[in-house]
Amino acid sequence: MAVPKRVLLLFAAISFCFSFGFVLCQNQELSSLLEVKKSFVGDPEKVLLDWNESNPIFCSWTGVTCGLNSVDDSARVVSLNLSDSSLSGSISPSLGSLQKLLQLDLSSNSLTGPIPTTLSNLSSLESLLLFSNQLTGSHPSSTRFPQESPNRTSLKGPIPAELGNCSSLAVLTVAVNNLNGSIPGSLGRLQNLQTLNLANNSLSGEIPSQLGELSQLVYLNLMGNQLQGSIPKSLAKMSNLQNLDLSMNMLTGGVPEEFGSMNQLVYMVLSNNNLTGVIPRSLCTNNTNLESLILSAIQLSGPIPIELRLCPSLMQLDLSNNSLNGSIPNEIYESVQLTHLYLHNNSLAGSISPLIANLSNLEGTCVVSQQVTRQSAQGDWNAWKS
Ligand SMILES: *[C@@H]1O[C@H](CO)[C@@H](O)[C@H](O)[C@H]1NC(C)=O
Ligand SMILES: *[C@@H]1O[C@H](CO)[C@@H](O)[C@H](O)[C@H]1NC(C)=O
Ligand SMILES: *[C@@H]1O[C@H](CO)[C@@H](O)[C@H](O)[C@H]1NC(C)=O
Ligand SMILES: *[C@@H]1O[C@H](CO)[C@@H](O)[C@H](O)[C@H]1NC(C)=O
Ligand SMILES: *[C@@H]1O[C@H](CO)[C@@H](O)[C@H](O)[C@H]1NC(C)=O
Ligand SMILES: *[C@@H]1O[C@H](CO)[C@@H](O)[C@H](O)[C@H]1NC(C)=O
Ligand SMILES: *[C@@H]1O[C@H](CO)[C@@H](O)[C@H](O)[C@H]1NC(C)=O
Ligand SMILES: *[C@@H]1O[C@H](CO)[C@@H](O)[C@H](O)[C@H]1NC(C)=O
Ligand SMILES: *[C@@H]1O[C@H](CO)[C@@H](O)[C@H](O)[C@H]1NC(C)=O
Ligand SMILES: *[C@@H]1O[C@H](CO)[C@@H](O)[C@H](O)[C@H]1NC(C)=O
Ligand SMILES: *[C@@H]1O[C@H](CO)[C@@H](O)[C@H](O)[C@H]1NC(C)=O
Ligand SMILES: *[C@@H]1O[C@H](CO)[C@@H](O)[C@H](O)[C@H]1NC(C)=O
Repeated sequence: MAVPKRVLLLFAAISFCFSFGFVLCQNQELSSLLEVKKSFVGDPEKVLLDWNESNPIFCSWTGVTCGLNSVDDSARVVSLNLSDSSLSGSISPSLGSLQKLLQLDLSSNSLTGPIPTTLSNLSSLESLLLFSNQLTGSHPSSTRFPQESPNRTSLKGPIPAELGNCSSLAVLTVAVNNLNGSIPGSLGRLQNLQTLNLANNSLSGEIPSQLGELSQLVYLNLMGNQLQGSIPKSLAKMSNLQNLDLSMNMLTGGVPEEFGSMNQLVYMVLSNNNLTGVIPRSLCTNNTNLESLILSAIQLSGPIPIELRLCPSLMQLDLSNNSLNGSIPNEIYESVQLTHLYLHNNSLAGSISPLIANLSNLEGTCVVSQQVTRQSAQGDWNAWKS
């Protein structure tokens, strides 16, 4: 939404309040907001100071943007943005009665407790941003996993299945919290969803196959959870998906061959899982936009398929820390756009071809470790252009 339009709405709402008297604005919205305030028990920056009854023009309150309800010309909250405000406490179920809410951004605070199921009442909600900033904000030097921080505050409990009722939702981001339980299959009903970021929580269970129904989804990030089971083939149906990150989970089974038909994919990151099997030869069949294929540390075996050369945009190929065998196919060196090639810690035979000189775009560290045989152990950790 363009800023000028929002400002216009705000002015319209405020002038409405002035013209027709405050009493009309003393409605349900105001009392809901005051309930919401009660749940934010800590407000060290005093961002909610102006949220009080002696200042009843709630449309002017910090973080609140209003619009005019066309039905009864009343001022209604359309956006609530209190991101990065050092708030602590919990998310009030009363948010569910702000029925015209389009955007709710409570990200980068120190909130704890569950995501209220009453948010399912918000049928117009387009973005729900609840990600935490614990790692980048209060502890910038920490590179540890969020779960390891002893007194990190974060949202807890399950992702409410009822969120599948928020049919207008386009952005759902609850990354870096401590949500547990499984991912509800009902999220597959969110036909307008474009971004789903559940990274770095404690989610377990299987990835619901219903997520494959998210035909508008562009960004799917489930990294850093405890997800189990195999990767649903149905994910390949997401024909608009550009970013797929399932890394650092406990997924088993193989890399679905069907992923070869996802022709919008740019990033495919499946590293650090407990997958097995071979690299599907069809992976590049239709992946004309694939730039990063990160398949490290997922127990892959068998050869590097020569068909990988059919990914015309491939720049980063990481197949390290697997059990790949056979020789490195010369066709790999035809992928002249490669900038990063990681093949170390496999069981690949033979040596690196001089054809690697074709890869004139290789940059940064390109490490290829050859473990030809245990006896010779020659050429370990060969490095080019490092
Ligand atoms: C209520 O909000 C007004 C406007 O920001 C502020 O001046 C006043 O101090 C607030 N009153 C209380 C009791 O917080
Ligand atoms: C909320 O405000 C922050 C800071 O002003 C901004 O970066 C963010 O994009 C806003 N969120 C939404 C949903 O507009
Ligand atoms: C949900 O919306 C209905 C109207 O559609 C309203 O009456 C009810 O109070 C709302 N529930 C909550 C928990 O906000
Ligand atoms: C998840 O955590 C890892 C490790 O701390 C970090 O590198 C990554 O950027 C995080 N991802 C998201 C989406 O928060
Ligand atoms: C964590 O909690 C302990 C005591 O419970 C406290 O001493 C310590 O300062 C806290 N750490 C942070 C980063 O808040
Ligand atoms: C909301 O979703 C739940 C679970 O997905 C479902 O049982 C319930 O009927 C839905 N409620 C409404 C009002 O659509
Ligand atoms: C989620 O964590 C809570 C404790 O925070 C625990 O009581 C509950 O059993 C966990 N649920 C699942 C499904 O692991
Ligand atoms: C490959 O992508 C095209 C669109 O670019 C699509 O029409 C075709 O069905 C796809 N092929 C397969 C095998 O998925
Ligand atoms: C990975 O899979 C192997 C066999 O498939 C199993 O023995 C091992 O326990 C699994 N590891 C984890 C962390 O799930
Ligand atoms: C591969 O293994 C090396 C050495 O154990 C480790 O430093 C590196 O982080 C691993 N890479 C991945 C992607 O697991
Ligand atoms: C090789 O990869 C395996 C599997 O990821 C890992 O356990 C091992 O530490 C790696 N070894 C080296 C030397 O990097
Ligand atoms: C690669 O390993 C598999 C078993 O995992 C074996 O059947 C195959 O013969 C090996 N291929 C080569 C070229 O060593």
